[in-house]
Amino acid sequence: MGFAHRLGGALAPENTLAGLLLAHRLGVTAVECDVQLSADGVAVIAHDAELERTTSGNGALAAHAAAELLQLDAGRHHHPAFAGEALPSLQQLAATLRRLGMAVNLELKPDADARRMGQLCAVQIRQHWQGAALLPLVSSFSAEALAGVREAAPELPRALLVEELNPALVAQAQALGCRALHVCHRALSAAWVAQLHGLGLAVMAWTVNQPQEMQRLRQWGVDMLCSDRPDRFDPAWAA
Ligand code: G3P
Ligand code: MG
Repeated sequence: MGFAHRLGGALAPENTLAGLLLAHRLGVTAVECDVQLSADGVAVIAHDAELERTTSGNGALAAHAAAELLQLDAGRHHHPAFAGEALPSLQQLAATLRRLGMAVNLELKPDADARRMGQLCAVQIRQHWQGAALLPLVSSFSAEALAGVREAAPELPRALLVEELNPALVAQAQALGCRALHVCHRALSAAWVAQLHGLGLAVMAWTVNQPQEMQRLRQWGVDMLCSDRPDRFDPAWAA
């Protein structure tokens, strides 16, 4: 399964519903996005801890209430044609994904208290996907955040994000009851994919933009791919 990175990859403003709709129009069935908490504890979709790079706001995202964040322009930085595109809440994202029948990988980007962030996000994910046939796959570089997710909503599938592969990280993913390991594509090999599968862990490779690399990872048996170029998914990855 191929996931459009930050909802629309490089083809639209990152982590916006415009990107999600573009990915859907391309025939993509799964997307990745980043989740943070507002000052009042509401899960919103944004990558950076600071607002400047991708929005019309200033300062730390975590210092602003959700009502302020949802008013920001998160489209103009990408192209003036996207001016007025909002920074979405998790609730808005869930409604659109469920309407379109799309899968999602929610990457938790914790601020200070990662465990608490994981717990709060898990409760909101459970609420927004209540009754859904397909639950979000929740990932994080933070083991603490994943531990918080497991405590608050153990039914949510989890994945540990890693830059490298080594036995300690694999053991950490297993200890967290993860379903998958999300690995920087440069750290993967056919042998690692086979080893992780042998341990019952699915493998996602991130962030893969070149068609030859996508093909090689498929030959190795990689299960999921995250890409800035969802327009380059062949039918096997897009499905
Ligand atoms: O999930 C893979 C990827 O999203 C991790 O990196 O910085 O784009 O969130 P980043
Ligand atoms: Mg991410």
